[in-house]
Amino acid sequence: MTKSEDNEDNMTTQIIPVTAFTDQRPGTAGLRKKVAVVRQPHYLASFVQSIFDCAPELRGNTLVIGGDGRYWNRDAITLCVQMAAANGISRVLIGLGGILSTPAASHLIRQRGAAGGLVLTASHNPAGPNGDFGIKYNIAGGGQAPEALTERIFQTSLALTRYRIDPTVSVDLDRLGTTQAGALQIEVIDGVDDYAAQMATLFDFAQIRDWLAQGHRIRFDALHAVTGPYARRILIDTLGANEQDIVNAVPLEDFGGGHPDPNLIYAAELVAHMNGPHAADLGAASDGDGDRNMILGPGVFISPGDSLAMLADNLHLCPGYVDGVVGIARSMPTCRAADHVARQRGIELHETPTGWKFFCNLLDAGRITICGEESFGTGSTHVREKDGLWAVLAWANILAASGRSLPEIAISHWQRYGRHYFQRHDYEGLEADVADAIVADLRARLPQLVGQTLEGGLTVTLADDFTYADPIDGSQAKGQGLRVVMGDDARIVLRKSGTGTDGATLRLYLEHWRQDELNLDPATALAPLAALADTLIGLRQRTGRAEPDVVT
Ligand code: G1P
Ligand code: ZN
Repeated sequence: MTKSEDNEDNMTTQIIPVTAFTDQRPGTAGLRKKVAVVRQPHYLASFVQSIFDCAPELRGNTLVIGGDGRYWNRDAITLCVQMAAANGISRVLIGLGGILSTPAASHLIRQRGAAGGLVLTASHNPAGPNGDFGIKYNIAGGGQAPEALTERIFQTSLALTRYRIDPTVSVDLDRLGTTQAGALQIEVIDGVDDYAAQMATLFDFAQIRDWLAQGHRIRFDALHAVTGPYARRILIDTLGANEQDIVNAVPLEDFGGGHPDPNLIYAAELVAHMNGPHAADLGAASDGDGDRNMILGPGVFISPGDSLAMLADNLHLCPGYVDGVVGIARSMPTCRAADHVARQRGIELHETPTGWKFFCNLLDAGRITICGEESFGTGSTHVREKDGLWAVLAWANILAASGRSLPEIAISHWQRYGRHYFQRHDYEGLEADVADAIVADLRARLPQLVGQTLEGGLTVTLADDFTYADPIDGSQAKGQGLRVVMGDDARIVLRKSGTGTDGATLRLYLEHWRQDELNLDPATALAPLAALADTLIGLRQRTGRAEPDVVT
């Protein structure tokens, strides 16, 4: 350990020599690891130093720091602040209690003109000492670091020999206000304030308040994760929703032992409510860090791909979007419901690889207004992350403004455009080489599939490994998932997850467009396609699993 030589101002900076770690390659959304891995001596500090080394724009500038409140969040934030002090960053903005939802962090970076942000989250992955931890670097503009930068960070981590830290810096995360630690200004802010103010500019709060006052109800399940305080402030305090309808709204370090992923499996309590006799008019849940959303109506589940299409078709009813939608983007595996809306409206539709970062250039360039992923992510130009509560408020605004119920909107949408039945089957915790071999075998067989008519009469019109060429900066992302396309009728997509921490996860995505049958159970509607995929890929046989681990 040596004193800093090049930072005369800060005599308390230490330079800690380290042996580089070899496993710090960021995945679909930042670096995610088991808590035990991240807590190894120097592990997180090494990754943060690699970020700082690759982001010289942070020197003399503002850095936003916040997390989803999971186990070890506070310690990690203190470490980040001590390293910020030692790396020439002049100001850190931190959420009260160390908490910022992912969309709120993105908004804060944009609004305060920060040079970047550290978002400490493993999203919906379970938390606690045996759970997961994660960290993402977001750039000025509020979006996740693009692929070229994450790759540079990884390369830097492989050659890292030291990190810089000022262990004398301390921060009281529970006290609002500004303090000074040497050259570093530390500001602790209420992360909910700025976010709630932005939502009020996008949606007609008076109209939603009236709608709720008429007896309509929003049921929101925060799954004991980060959105609790946001939902309470906006839905209860500002809009007048019933207190008892906003449930699991106290963030817990271990998310109450649950799996804060808003889907039909993990948000079972909400699903039961919405299928019960006292269902609210709008049911919704969000995930660990507040960027995902699930939307339900009384007795009806709106798949994320449908939600994207329906929101795109109705967003002009919200004051922040009165000029309508200029373009739509969806990730490749997301069903093609939004494509029909884009076609109908004569606007651009972009198909991007999985991961929110691929939407950011399109949003920045003003090419799209709304975007979404099948993994319960929806968002718009207002930030550069997906935004769970935004989607809930957009739906509430559309219901209030249209005077129609959610099932009415869904049914008329399907009557007009047809319905895209969609499911994702996840095979989790596989041996990496088994997963890789399954993908490799299908990839090898893709060329001969084109033109073949498969059982059930569907003909393959395209079969490839998806490559995306970014229309804004020309960058190419290859190997983004295998797709077997049967015209507009159906698709089978296979890809390996980039967010897991336990072995490998394979995701099989099934989509079938029907114009005749609009009220089938998705599992029934997709059974023939699932059987076809099984014959094609042999997932169940090769993984030795009778069923997928999770179906969403
Ligand atoms: C998953 C989702 C993807 C989402 C990401 C972060 O990534 O599939 O849509 O952007 O989580 O929330 P995957 O594990 O599939 O790489
Ligand atoms: Zn998330």
